[in-house]
Amino acid sequence: MVSRPDISIAKEVTQGLNTKIIGKNLYHYKTIDSTNLFAKKLVKEGIEEGIVVVSDVQSSGRGRKNRTWSSPKGGLWFSIVLYPNISPKRGMLVTMASSVAVAEGIKVITGLNSVIKWPNDLLINGRKVCGILTELDAEMDKINYAIIGIGINVNNRLDIELKKIATSLMKEIGTSISRVKLLRSILKSFDANYNKLILGDYDSIKASWLSYSNIIGKKIQVQDEKKVINGKVVDVDDSGCLMLKTKRGTVRIISGDIKFL
Ligand code: BTN
Repeated sequence: MVSRPDISIAKEVTQGLNTKIIGKNLYHYKTIDSTNLFAKKLVKEGIEEGIVVVSDVQSSGRGRKNRTWSSPKGGLWFSIVLYPNISPKRGMLVTMASSVAVAEGIKVITGLNSVIKWPNDLLINGRKVCGILTELDAEMDKINYAIIGIGINVNNRLDIELKKIATSLMKEIGTSISRVKLLRSILKSFDANYNKLILGDYDSIKASWLSYSNIIGKKIQVQDEKKVINGKVVDVDDSGCLMLKTKRGTVRIISGDIKFL
């Protein structure tokens, strides 16, 4: 079920944003199943790059690995449509640029420092405040589209089972936060970082990402669908993969959930 778009909030966010690509247009809904799903429909209709879809509530919010994503009122749930003209091998850098943009936006609006947990979670005081779900459609040598779905716990309550592992910005600073201001700030940072990325400045995206991450030199355990690997992170390569020194030599980790040991 899709409610009607709310033009007034859309204008508040986009007016005077002065970005090159991101957030020139925005769809805001009160309730939608998932902003990523809606963005995908827009892509099929040939929507322009940089469009933002926001919903106050998602009835079927989705997380990584087909998990559900709790999306009640008060949070910031949105997706951005991109057509990045970069090699699919560098697809992970799109998510890295996105997590940097969110960390910068949160810092500007709340003063809070967040830490990026590979591949793309944002933590404050050890608890998850933001998750990013990137859905990439690519061929051998071309990315057809990327939908970046960003979920931030802002003023929303957290379900009881989430309280141990998650936090909200309101909880961390003790007051509610303007979601419009936060979104504007994130979209501005997003635009700056995304432009660097498509101009080929991969090093600066990686450097910014590393400055928010605490992973290099850490002993971690990675779990993917099939196996568990322990090792020490020696680098994050140019495609955003972890280089893990293990007993059997150095391995490259493309995806998985990590745990610090
Ligand atoms: C994760 O598992 O950490 C990723 C969570 C991503 C949630 C966001 S909320 C906006 C967008 N729409 C969705 O259905 N999911 C993403």
